[in-house]
Amino acid sequence: MSADRSSGGGVSRRQLFGVLGAGAAGAVVGAAGGAGVALAATGGGTTDASGAAASVYPYFGAHQAGIVTPAQDRLHFAAFDVADALDREGLIGLLTEWTDAAARLSQGLEVAEGGAVGGSDYSPPTDTGEALGLPASGLTITFGFGPGLFTDESGADRFGLSARRPAMLEPLPRFQGDALVPEMSGGDLCIQACADDPQVAVHAIRNLSRIAFGRASLRWSQLGFGRTSSTSTTQATPRNLFGFKDGTANVKAEETAIVDDHVWVHASDEPAWLAGGSYLVARRIRMIIENWDRVQLGEQEMLVGRSKGEGAPLSGGTEFTEPDFDKTGATDAPLIDADAHVRLAHPTSNGGARMLRRGYNFVDGNDSLGRLDAGLFFLSFQRSPQQFIDVQTSLARDGLNEYLKHVGSAIFAVPGGVAEGEFVGQALFA
Ligand code: HEM
Repeated sequence: MSADRSSGGGVSRRQLFGVLGAGAAGAVVGAAGGAGVALAATGGGTTDASGAAASVYPYFGAHQAGIVTPAQDRLHFAAFDVADALDREGLIGLLTEWTDAAARLSQGLEVAEGGAVGGSDYSPPTDTGEALGLPASGLTITFGFGPGLFTDESGADRFGLSARRPAMLEPLPRFQGDALVPEMSGGDLCIQACADDPQVAVHAIRNLSRIAFGRASLRWSQLGFGRTSSTSTTQATPRNLFGFKDGTANVKAEETAIVDDHVWVHASDEPAWLAGGSYLVARRIRMIIENWDRVQLGEQEMLVGRSKGEGAPLSGGTEFTEPDFDKTGATDAPLIDADAHVRLAHPTSNGGARMLRRGYNFVDGNDSLGRLDAGLFFLSFQRSPQQFIDVQTSLARDGLNEYLKHVGSAIFAVPGGVAEGEFVGQALFA
């Protein structure tokens, strides 16, 4: 491993400004390095002195961070197109530099030692500097490979990778109601940066984009300001912009057998280079919230299939009670409507399919009609894209659709975790 790739070297933003206590800064635990069961299950982050939320997650481990890691509050997601002139060696070079930078950034370090202000007065700084003084803030950086990396639009095998393309890594089929905008869809590469401080997430994407200059350019990007799911039983369930608790029945990191079955690609799955990885689906779902806000509370709850306050299934109980889809009310009609979102999305309606949801709320200004450009940037990780396809197909008659518009869509193969001295996705090039 090169000294540059070390996540421990150099002067960190924390050391420079002493934001975190020495205990927190020094206690980074590797996911594969003997962390306790709870830490390993949730990605092995450190906790601060008060035992509150983890704030530094190891970059290296069996799986990439940012999947089962307890969902942070903020997101900056970016999809890239590779440059026409890029060749295989250039792509490997980019992934190597991205890996080095991601390993440092996620530990609260600058892109390079002395990056922002320690270099020559006569050259541009190698770190843009806006995260100086900020702690790691739970930053995770997760890389993914889109279908176009394996075979481009003209069918060309630019990087000698087409024989290694996962058979399932195809652009998603067209779903009923899709109103996709090409400028918000697709991409050859993606980076998901999640943190508890928006400036830290933006700093990561900005600097990684800068490193890619001339090799890959931003195709589209998305900021998320509030998580819409919990990925750990230690987290409270947040709310989406419809005002409902979201993430109640999500796959949680602590459910290791379910995560293993439904989220991670196995060595026995094809292709073997993706073992320990996952498939990431991104959907930019616009919510027509002005219309939604005129819907009566009872109807809102019927459309979702859960109560708005507690988040309990309409069949009764509390938030974490399993829905009873057979239970009927006074009129013999099911208490959870036939077209309710939770019924159609439930594993029992989809041959047992589950997924780990990790989406974010967004508001990107407003449109010319004075409506907020708001919605849910849906992100899910699954062992096979088919799991998402099955659920999204079943949601064709979801009552919520009247208030939703899917405008962006993308799929990526997310390679497994990175070992020290490797670059992300190295097994693909072996
Ligand atoms: C803006 C669009 C969406 C909204 C507002 C929304 C909202 C919700 C809410 C409130 C719940 C109940 C709480 C929970 O268990 O998390 C839920 C559950 C769920 N949603 Fe969505 N959702 C949206 C889109 C999607 C999409 C696109 C998918 C996948 C194709 C999906 C899959 C699921 C699944 C799998 C569950 C759990 C069902 C269960 O096991 O009970 N949702 N969603």
